Amino acid sequence: MAQQEQWKSKIGFVLAAAGSAIGLGAIWKFPYVAGTGGGGAFLLLFLAFTLVLGMPLLLGEFMIGRMGQSSPIQTYGKLALNPKWNFIGKIGVFTSFLLLSFYSVVGGWIILYIVKLLSGGLAGLTQDQYGELFGDIISNSYSTIAAQLVFMLVTILVVAKGVQKGIELASKVMMPALLILFLLLVIRSLSLDGAMEGVKFLLVPDFSKLTSESILFALGQAFFTLSLGVSVMLTYASYLPKTQNLPQSAVSIIILNIVIALLAGLAIFPGVFSFGMEPNAGPVLIFSVLPAVFAHMPFGTLFFLAFLLLFLFAAFTSAFSMIEIIVAAVTKNDASKRKKSTWVIGMLIFIVGVPSCLSYGVLADVHIFNKTIFDLMDYTVSNILMPLGALLIAIFVSRKIPKGDLFAELKQGSSVGYTFFSICYFLLKYIVPIAIIVVFLDAAGLSDW
Ligand code: PHE
Repeated sequence: MAQQEQWKSKIGFVLAAAGSAIGLGAIWKFPYVAGTGGGGAFLLLFLAFTLVLGMPLLLGEFMIGRMGQSSPIQTYGKLALNPKWNFIGKIGVFTSFLLLSFYSVVGGWIILYIVKLLSGGLAGLTQDQYGELFGDIISNSYSTIAAQLVFMLVTILVVAKGVQKGIELASKVMMPALLILFLLLVIRSLSLDGAMEGVKFLLVPDFSKLTSESILFALGQAFFTLSLGVSVMLTYASYLPKTQNLPQSAVSIIILNIVIALLAGLAIFPGVFSFGMEPNAGPVLIFSVLPAVFAHMPFGTLFFLAFLLLFLFAAFTSAFSMIEIIVAAVTKNDASKRKKSTWVIGMLIFIVGVPSCLSYGVLADVHIFNKTIFDLMDYTVSNILMPLGALLIAIFVSRKIPKGDLFAELKQGSSVGYTFFSICYFLLKYIVPIAIIVVFLDAAGLSDW
């Protein structure tokens, strides 16, 4: 068995795991699913799911990851002393593969926006024109595929270099910068005319707006933004020494993630209402609202450029984690195979992602189950495969690993109390599986049986 890689520093791990968590999920997806899913009520559900289901799951992945010190697939068989459990890791690796195939499409859109901005194409447009521009950009088959390829090439180059040199360094610089820029953006948004309408929309819950489907979206979103259910967090924890404080790391990551999602909401919804737009505009939301907010700011273009670069970084650090687990699974942590495997896997992901990319262009009319290819991929990953993976991991951790072993693992590097552990354990054993199954059945329309 090859020697596991190790993180260089404690904060490096937290930043890299937070870097995996914070990405398109919190910044791009959260505002638009909250916008379609009912605003404040959706936010509340998302927060509840994050704390009650996300937190124990994150700890669960951390515990078994560090315990197993192995690849995302083999950890399960190793800990359960039975290779048949490896299937949970296999589902995670497959999910991660599909996920990156369309995630890279959106990463490409950000790159195209940066190119557009640098060539002066974003200056002086009206509100409607920003929306149209987005439509034009994402429907151009050649440039979107080229941009998606660039996104994948950068991801491959960084991950081929290995965990600590690539991922850790990049995360250390970008996370703090992202936070600062977001704060500036929110301050500007909140001072727009009519900003309070947007704040109210995001913060004041109206439960009549919730549907079974939006509850499923809130669940999927909670798992998606924390990178849960696919063994990414497990893999990152497998590179940890026993001195790392797991509960503290988990809490920091969850807080950071919630803060970024809230900041994204507070940056966007005031703009939406101030400019008289619709909060349920979908994926276009951030791309059409933010340029307008920045346009109302001194040095707006400069700030917008900085924002897009950080947004891109955030997407990259998440993408790194997705490809990292596939590489870890394929190479079984054999460093000599890393470079070649990363290239082969990355290129395959790119190819599989092309139809998703084209589903905003030449394949726009292709609908499967009433969804475009891109939407179908996103729905399958976010609302089916990730919750399914989370369900299996919750069952595995709480029912296959002895409770005493889990607590012993958690205590290494932390002085966490037994009560906190027991609450998380209880949630993992009963509440997480039941909640996931109920939400699934409800969304499938089976709840009236
Ligand atoms: N958490 C990432 C985001 O919000 C997405 C992700 C999911 C990354 C699963 C890795 C694994 O953008």
